[in-house]
Amino acid sequence: MKKQTLLLMTAAISFFTACENKPADTVTKPGITEKPFGVFENENITQYTITNANGMQVSIINYGGIVTDIITPDKDKKMGDVVLGFDSLSGYLQKGNPYFGALIGRYGNRIAKGKFVLDGKTYQLPLNNNGNTLHGGVKGFDKVVWQATKLPGDSSLQLTYASKDGEQGFPGNLQSTVVYTLTADNSLQISYTATTDKATPVNLTNHCYFNLSAGKEGTILDHEVMINADKYTAVDTVLIPTGQLPDVKGTPMDFTTAKKVGKDIASVKGGYDHNWVLNRKGNDLEEVATVYDAGSGRFLEVFTTEPGLQFYTGNFLDSTLHGKNNWVYAQHAALCLETQHFPDGPNQPTFPNTILKPGETYKHVTKYKFSVK
Ligand code: GLA
Repeated sequence: MKKQTLLLMTAAISFFTACENKPADTVTKPGITEKPFGVFENENITQYTITNANGMQVSIINYGGIVTDIITPDKDKKMGDVVLGFDSLSGYLQKGNPYFGALIGRYGNRIAKGKFVLDGKTYQLPLNNNGNTLHGGVKGFDKVVWQATKLPGDSSLQLTYASKDGEQGFPGNLQSTVVYTLTADNSLQISYTATTDKATPVNLTNHCYFNLSAGKEGTILDHEVMINADKYTAVDTVLIPTGQLPDVKGTPMDFTTAKKVGKDIASVKGGYDHNWVLNRKGNDLEEVATVYDAGSGRFLEVFTTEPGLQFYTGNFLDSTLHGKNNWVYAQHAALCLETQHFPDGPNQPTFPNTILKPGETYKHVTKYKFSVK
């Protein structure tokens, strides 16, 4: 009996340890390791884990270029996984996976009625969100296999994807390259480039869902967020921009000074799911947002070259998805900070240009830097 109790206790302890830390078999020396992660459309899917000298780890799969894990230390140096996701490929393939950790393209966020006119021609995209096109259509860049290459230096994984002319209704063969780098200062840097042979809308981003408590807190309502933006793009009832850029001052949209996500969320119908117009000095990497979780002490800083930030508070999570470590994802279990050009750019003449032409190179760099305080 005693032995049984002991065994049970040992099992319970190892379960909770596993929830918090990576399994013991994970190699923690700096470099990139690989492990099989299933098969999709007859192609092998591999999980690549980049480890830096501090023991921070980022895992990425070549299906959808998905960031499956980000393991960072808390203020007591305990490692924990700060992104939502699944243990296996089937989790990511299931209907209703809300783009956990994925690369988003060819056009991040919404294009009204899936329609735009370019050089006098009207293009119609598949409609997958209330009569509009969301995140590149029915089979966006989050649902394709990327070609992965480990770059010299042991800290970067390069992913490439060749999207064909006409794919999901978009014009032009688009060659996209995304490089994920885990730096020595605990940053995940994502560099995007793309070229095309016909003019086409391009807006690439990443859709990580962050919960800095690593699951200790069931929601992010107590996370403190700062967004360096005086304006946001107002939207209609189906989240299509109206073209107006209201001031955040004096409204629940004001994150110019850090505040808890939960402070004003009740006054925003459906929760936060908007694009903020970032205050920028130029076109270089600039710090645009921060997130702080007092419980774990984890602090996340977001740097980007992009003009916009979609701050989404996991409003559509509804406890139907069971993620890693037996965590059931309730509403607001995590938040997304999608650096981007503005939604519906191709139909909004006053928004920053989203049309890439032959001979040009689309460039976007975003850095998520993790520390504690
Ligand atoms: C973006 C959108 C949201 C939602 C999520 C995915 O953040 O703006 O409305 O679609 O992606 O669920």
